[in-house]
Amino acid sequence: MDRLENSPRPDRVADALIAAVRRLPLGPARDVLHGRWLGHPVHPLLVQFPIGAWLSAAVLDLVPGKRKAARLLVAAGLAGAGPAAVAGWVDWAEMRRPQLRVGLVHAAANITGVALYAASLTARCRGRHVRGRLFGYCGLTAIAAGGALGGHLAYRQAAGTNHAEAVTALAPPGWHTVALLADLVIGRPRRGRVGDVPVVLVRTDADTVRCLAERCSHMAGPLAEGELVDGCLRCPWHGSTFRLDDGWNVTGPATAPQPVFDTRTVDGRVEARIRTTLREPSGDGPAADGES
Ligand code: FES
Repeated sequence: MDRLENSPRPDRVADALIAAVRRLPLGPARDVLHGRWLGHPVHPLLVQFPIGAWLSAAVLDLVPGKRKAARLLVAAGLAGAGPAAVAGWVDWAEMRRPQLRVGLVHAAANITGVALYAASLTARCRGRHVRGRLFGYCGLTAIAAGGALGGHLAYRQAAGTNHAEAVTALAPPGWHTVALLADLVIGRPRRGRVGDVPVVLVRTDADTVRCLAERCSHMAGPLAEGELVDGCLRCPWHGSTFRLDDGWNVTGPATAPQPVFDTRTVDGRVEARIRTTLREPSGDGPAADGES
């Protein structure tokens, strides 16, 4: 799998497919398929249905007198594979190169599995039950290989995970100086640091500075190189937009919001403090002028 990540061989096919998937006229449904409404990708949820149905069919194929039930499960799995595949392709088109390579082979294995299950259903409907079972077990093998690659994508390559999740744990508590107010140009994002955590600062008017974690929750894109759009910061890599006020992911493909820092201005210095939902009273002094 590591060799697969580093092989450029599938890149030309991948580039053509990316363009095709991005051209699909999905509108707002694209974010629905990414799982922005759910807070994490919806593809791993959708694949449970076909995998569960086909696994159950494989068990019933071993039990005498369960042909009809097994056939129904094979058909149900095929019906559920479509939505799962569409969600997967939409996520895949916004991945980084090594993930795209593994994702392409993951998709090829699953397409092979679907084709084998379609052959299995055809054989079962024609009364060729032994052939139907054989195709079914071959299909399950292909789907299992696809699942192994999907696991590599998710757990080894962190595709679909929240790349900003650790920020609230890593950011040191309390207020930290991140810039001089005079150095910040209104409307121009700038990098800073809270402890070791990279942040992006945006001065929105004479007195107000907004501060978000700098690495995008989608794939760790550099938000300091993004552009401002209607009170949001747009990631330069795949276009997710995050509201400056609270880090909310207004558009995907990011499914998780961006960690946000409270800010205040003290004697011309901009200070930032990680905002957490369960923040303890800090007790580190009264709010200074310009706290936002
Ligand atoms: S890294 Fe993909 S939208 Fe930011």
